[in-house]
Amino acid sequence: MNKEREHWGSRWGFILAAMGSAVGLGNIWRFSYAMGEGGGSTFLIIYLLSVILIGFPVMMIEFTIGRRAQTDAIDAFKKLAPKSFWVIAGGMGVLAAFIILSFYGVIGGWSLKYIFSYLTGGVSGNTETYFTEFVGSTFEPIGWQFLFMGITVAIVMLGVQKGIETSSKWMMPILSILLIVLAGYSLTLGGAGEALTFMFHPDWSAFTDPSVYFAAVGQAFFTLSLGMGIMLTYGSYLSPNEKLTSSAAYIIILDTLFAIIAGLVVFPALFAFDLDPTQGAGLVFIVLPTIFEGISGIGLVVGVAFFILLALAALSSGISLLEVVVAYLIRRLGVSRKLATLGIGFIIFLVGVPSSLSQGAVSIEVFGDPFLDFMDKFSGSLLLPLGGLIVAIYGTWSWKSDELLEHTDLKGVAWAPAFLFFAKFVAPIAILIILVFGMLSW
Ligand code: TRP
Repeated sequence: MNKEREHWGSRWGFILAAMGSAVGLGNIWRFSYAMGEGGGSTFLIIYLLSVILIGFPVMMIEFTIGRRAQTDAIDAFKKLAPKSFWVIAGGMGVLAAFIILSFYGVIGGWSLKYIFSYLTGGVSGNTETYFTEFVGSTFEPIGWQFLFMGITVAIVMLGVQKGIETSSKWMMPILSILLIVLAGYSLTLGGAGEALTFMFHPDWSAFTDPSVYFAAVGQAFFTLSLGMGIMLTYGSYLSPNEKLTSSAAYIIILDTLFAIIAGLVVFPALFAFDLDPTQGAGLVFIVLPTIFEGISGIGLVVGVAFFILLALAALSSGISLLEVVVAYLIRRLGVSRKLATLGIGFIIFLVGVPSSLSQGAVSIEVFGDPFLDFMDKFSGSLLLPLGGLIVAIYGTWSWKSDELLEHTDLKGVAWAPAFLFFAKFVAPIAILIILVFGMLSW
């Protein structure tokens, strides 16, 4: 406890690491499939509102609690609030990380498979058939999932996160440039009008459907890595004189831009090729290859580059998920890092197997959704917002307003009263209402 706690080398080191966790499959794979199923613009508007009105305050509070407590999620709650109730928030975070990583590994595996496909001749012919055959072949996707989890485990076990952090520095700008170029190309394919209407022209009648709110808020939490103490843990490595507000703002703006640009890549091509936006988890793996196929000459190279970047983004997020579970086990059971990482990594892989099978090989459904989609919804739309709710209530109500503003560096800032109002009332109440109605509609 007395040991001097490691701190980020610079504010940018911190922002980059937090972005490495935030930018992942959530921005490209999950965002497009959730938006496709959520009806496009309605989903987008509610998602953007959730990011600003709920995501920003919750992120600020996670950073603040972490920076104050200077320790990880579960310990932070114990230290700052010795009532067992708050410890539940930490425990739920570990559970959420466990579940998310179980299916994250499956999609990470798909990305690896597509790298391999593009290295060996590409995805030609009907991209939908290609995908369906791949996920329908019981063992192949599980093999790729195993490989993805193996790499994640190796990195966490050897503690070579530093390498990943350095590579994110290069990877993220390259990924964003590639996405922008692809969006430009996708918009020329003939589906631009329909896509822009789908994405940006609100259908007001859809706003009465509670399941869209449920999905959009869940997406906001998922994509920002909120609600399970990851951002809290990153905040704990911040030294007390760093400014939180602008860091949170950078992370949120960049993460959201990634998602919207990914949408501009996926939907124009989707409408140009007459594909179905509501086909679920396989969406980007069907739509993107149709784009690459059309790029004459360099389609294969672009395909390889894209899936390598996607896999790297997935890895840096997967590592942050595994680290949560491992850190907890090491402290709780006193086992070595090696044993904890190998053991829990393998268990998470096993728990992910039914998710993988549910995508075509075997019919495994829960409440009418394939197992993977169910796990995704359960963790993203339920556990994360619930965790965020507890964090928001704890962070805003156990401190006096004055203290809260001081801890968040907002004392004396003009919009501090607005922040307090949103953090104390709007965010918790909105999460609560959406959770209740979301559950009822589910
Ligand atoms: N945010 C990541 C993504 O968009 C996924 C992720 C990593 C995550 N760590 C998390 C989600 C913690 C929730 C909580 O792909």
